[in-house]
Amino acid sequence: MDKELLEKLEAIRQGAQLKTTDLVSIEDLSVNEIDLLFKLAHEIAIFLQGDMKKLSWLKGKTQLNFFLENSTRTRTSFELAGKNLGIDTINISGNQSSLKKGESLLDTAITLDQMQPDFVVVRSPYSGTAHYLAKNMKSVVLNAGDGWNEHPTQALLELYTMQKYQGNDLKNKKYVIVGDVLHSRVFGSLARLTSMYQIPVVVSCPYTLVRPQMTEVWPHITHEPDLMKALAEADIVHVIRLQTERAAAAFVPSIREYSKTYGLNATKLKVAHPKAIVMHAGPVIREVDVHTDILETDRSVIPDQVFAGYCLRLVLLWLMGQKRKEKKVLPRLFPQARVSM
Ligand code: CP
Repeated sequence: MDKELLEKLEAIRQGAQLKTTDLVSIEDLSVNEIDLLFKLAHEIAIFLQGDMKKLSWLKGKTQLNFFLENSTRTRTSFELAGKNLGIDTINISGNQSSLKKGESLLDTAITLDQMQPDFVVVRSPYSGTAHYLAKNMKSVVLNAGDGWNEHPTQALLELYTMQKYQGNDLKNKKYVIVGDVLHSRVFGSLARLTSMYQIPVVVSCPYTLVRPQMTEVWPHITHEPDLMKALAEADIVHVIRLQTERAAAAFVPSIREYSKTYGLNATKLKVAHPKAIVMHAGPVIREVDVHTDILETDRSVIPDQVFAGYCLRLVLLWLMGQKRKEKKVLPRLFPQARVSM
């Protein structure tokens, strides 16, 4: 079965390679490459829902999941995807690493790189961490979310899910993002991804949570502070939670007031298209950003988003399995480049 699947994936791929050696930003991928990822993920989804779930195409590789912030979806799916491919996966959390003892990020990167990992999947509260590691490590670095900046694989699974329910051409659909786009790294990647695919976006949030120059930097995005106007005839309603761990609570009068104004419930959703789907970038804060009267209905495609994340991360690891060899990094990290004393 896995030989058959491999042949099928290779036939779809037709020798295509991803150009990038790391995934730091969604812009590291082209539209054609993302379309390919989606086609491959579709086949992987069918396979994973069958009885036999294990592939071993990357046996002998190692993957460090270096998470300096909490995660359920991203870390679990990257780990499961790696294990499924036969990769040895190791988890390092912020509390376990020597960063806690004062070691710098650069020295941590040098140290971890000496373990010869093929992949480092990194999540950090600091924007730019993935880029910094990618520049300083021989390992392939995959950004699992950095500060307010980006979360590229999350944006991929969002678009994959939108296309699954609303068709591949989303240019004429009404796509509404509700919530804290200021502090959201998912929004950072989504803004870029929707620009690449020319998908118009309506953002609904208070003025305090709008990103500076958002509509100038991304002209395909408009801001509509009135949620009911934004939701009218919407095809996709995508909720992004209030990022309270990033001080977002200071940007609204109170969580209760925010929830009353911007929390999505079944009554508000009535003005949307009757077949509108509701997405959530996760983690969901029930009754604050989305109410149970939507979450537990078939309007919510949130479970599909999670599964899509597993499939897409598996495909990404597979396609990037040999990339370590191609990487060119700063020579100062390698013994042959050390300065003689
Ligand atoms: N969406 C997302 O990144 O979820 P986790 O924080 O659970 O990984």
